[in-house]
Amino acid sequence: MSRQSPLITVMVKAARAAGRGLTRDFGEVENLQVSRKGPGDFVTNADHRAEEVIYNELSKARPGYGFVMEERGVVEGTDKTNRFIVDPLDGTLNYMHGIPHFAVSIGHERDGQLHAGVIFDVLRGDIYWAERGHGAWLESRRLRVAARTKLSQAVIATGAPYIGQEEERHRLFLSELAYLTQETTGIRRFGSAALDLAFVAAGRFDGFWERNLKPWDIAAGIVLVREAGGMVDELDGGDVLETGNILASSQALQPRIHDRLKAAKKRLDAE
Ligand code: IPD
Ligand code: CA
Ligand code: CA
Ligand code: CA
Repeated sequence: MSRQSPLITVMVKAARAAGRGLTRDFGEVENLQVSRKGPGDFVTNADHRAEEVIYNELSKARPGYGFVMEERGVVEGTDKTNRFIVDPLDGTLNYMHGIPHFAVSIGHERDGQLHAGVIFDVLRGDIYWAERGHGAWLESRRLRVAARTKLSQAVIATGAPYIGQEEERHRLFLSELAYLTQETTGIRRFGSAALDLAFVAAGRFDGFWERNLKPWDIAAGIVLVREAGGMVDELDGGDVLETGNILASSQALQPRIHDRLKAAKKRLDAE
């Protein structure tokens, strides 16, 4: 059954409220105020506004919960068991360029464990949501990861390191890309890790891998993929929320993709 819990309802309301501002600002994208956090890392006034809306909504509905937010950082709560992990605008670069593919991502952690997630595909109007033990949903449709078992038939999404990041990261990415390009039916780089994970949960992408992501990029998406029957692992065996080196796919494909990514790394190490 797809009935949302009060917690999910609150998270969806906050995501939709942020989405309204993002849609409005996207209509006047040429007036955005952009600043640079690093060489290839941007933030706009739309990111900040959306984060403000989410923070106000959630802290009103769930007073005392903690927050980890991309732009504002950590806000300690009086309630030490619950916290939200918020990316107010995932896909800022797309947004800045007028590319209509970006999302709001809100994850929720309880007792240090990922517990719920909401991803709002703003321009398509799609709410993806999942709660531990209650499945993953696109509105009222139950989601399952793709059933394809052959790597040769798989479409895999990824994300690339950007300008200014160490050469080593670029080399590893290109090696991984070379391996998976040769062995899959298609590779996609759409520019929103949250939507990449939502699309894995929905069975559109057969898998997704990227390195050096942040907790707010992936927290909600991890819950979605797991609740859709898929697997999420850290690429080198660590804690995925800490390193942000993520691989997500189905039970059948996870070991196969993992094997190819490991081969790509080994090859590079041997050079
Ligand atoms: C980015 C997107 C992108 C990924 C980057 C992230 P942002 O998030 O998720 O797909 O490749 O690594 O930083 O900055 O647009 O919220
Ligand atoms: Ca960012
Ligand atoms: Ca992000
Ligand atoms: Ca962001």
